Amino acid sequence: MGSLSIKGGRPLNGEVNIQGSKNGALPLLTASLLISGKTVLHNCPRIKDIDAMAQLLKTLGCEITFEKNTITIDATQICDTHCPQKQVQAMRSSIMLLGPLLGRCQSVRMNRPGGCVIGERPTDLHEAALQKMNVRFETAPDTITAYTEKLKGADIYLTFPSVGATENVIMAAVLAEGVTHLKNAAREPEIELLCEFLKRAGAKIRRIGENELEIRGVKCLHEVSMKVMPDRIVAGTYLLAAVATKGQVVLRNAPCRQMDSLIGLLRQMGAGVLADHDILYMDAESAYLPVEYVQTQVYPGFPTDLQSMLLATLTVARGESVLEETIFEDRFKVVPELRNMGADIREEGRRAYIKGVSFLRATHLTAYELRGGAALVIAALAARGESTIDGAHFIERGYENICRDLQCLNAEICLQ
Ligand code: EPZ
Repeated sequence: MGSLSIKGGRPLNGEVNIQGSKNGALPLLTASLLISGKTVLHNCPRIKDIDAMAQLLKTLGCEITFEKNTITIDATQICDTHCPQKQVQAMRSSIMLLGPLLGRCQSVRMNRPGGCVIGERPTDLHEAALQKMNVRFETAPDTITAYTEKLKGADIYLTFPSVGATENVIMAAVLAEGVTHLKNAAREPEIELLCEFLKRAGAKIRRIGENELEIRGVKCLHEVSMKVMPDRIVAGTYLLAAVATKGQVVLRNAPCRQMDSLIGLLRQMGAGVLADHDILYMDAESAYLPVEYVQTQVYPGFPTDLQSMLLATLTVARGESVLEETIFEDRFKVVPELRNMGADIREEGRRAYIKGVSFLRATHLTAYELRGGAALVIAALAARGESTIDGAHFIERGYENICRDLQCLNAEICLQ
């Protein structure tokens, strides 16, 4: 398990290209099971979670080839619907195999994908929605077994606009008998990408309201190729790193239109931001201001996946900030490590109260999950001196090559 070495204390400067989206690509990989033929995805990030999902699809009978950032999945022969425990429990997104396997094979068996450090990660919304579509579940504490004679369209209301549950319902509905109305659906850009992908493959999906979708089942879907959109969380990570180090950066292939909530915050902090199609310019030389109060929200609000990185950046703002996490119940895991660097953070329930300090101390750190790890990278870049971060494999789950990208921005960072 590698460690990152970071010599911090100087501004980020330069241009960096933004990789394809992890949370955009993963549902497209699972949706490829719905197609008895080939799916080609371009701009697919080469990260551990994509490799793990590809491995899982292979065990189900898919043939998979990678050509740099293009992945081809041939799902003509699906020989199994029992998802292997190792991959499923290593990756929460395995839950998004429910919809496609039920749609293609009418059955699925998997170990219940584990919770993780940020929360219990229940699947009640997925199961309640699919049960309305004529799916029967055999509940057991650690396994999910589901089957259906035939998926049926239904009127479904999600009590919470869960991203994964929305994706599972859409993937189950596209080959179901009849029409599905999905209300209170998630609106994240990754949902739009999945709908675009499925419509290109012949699905009939209509957005009939801000968070309402109508899906008319069809007999089958045909082969499709698609480009994965850039990763808005990776882009946000690098912008927040530039604010923490008071740098000036240019992001190429940035999903600017999906980043309004962050861009608004960056301007509140004193950064100059200019978005021009897929290029984002930011001058954070005088971005010292704190953020009086911000809470994470479902899209288009401030994304929970950027919360830890904002927290790290606010530890060196000039003043007090309040950050509230409303999506996950345990997503301040990175606070103790930031305190070891001299950060002044007080936790009260779902709120973090941050008092900016004039500098952070470089030290030996440990990442325990993906976005907390990215937050430690930001803090280490802002700290004076050399830090090491153990648990780099967590960061590699979502960042194709964080060393390569940050070196483009003149950071002194390398994998040991
Ligand atoms: C997706 O997870 C993302 N993962 C997460 O990114 C992201 O943080 C999350 O959406 C919110 O935006 C992928 O896309 C692979 P949810 P998902 O269902 O679908 C509760 C990252 O770092 N809930 O919208 O699991 C749940 O406990 C990851 O890339 C239920 O109660 O998120 C949470 O509190 C982390 N019952 C809230 O909803 C359910 O059945 C949001 O979860 C499902 C969810």
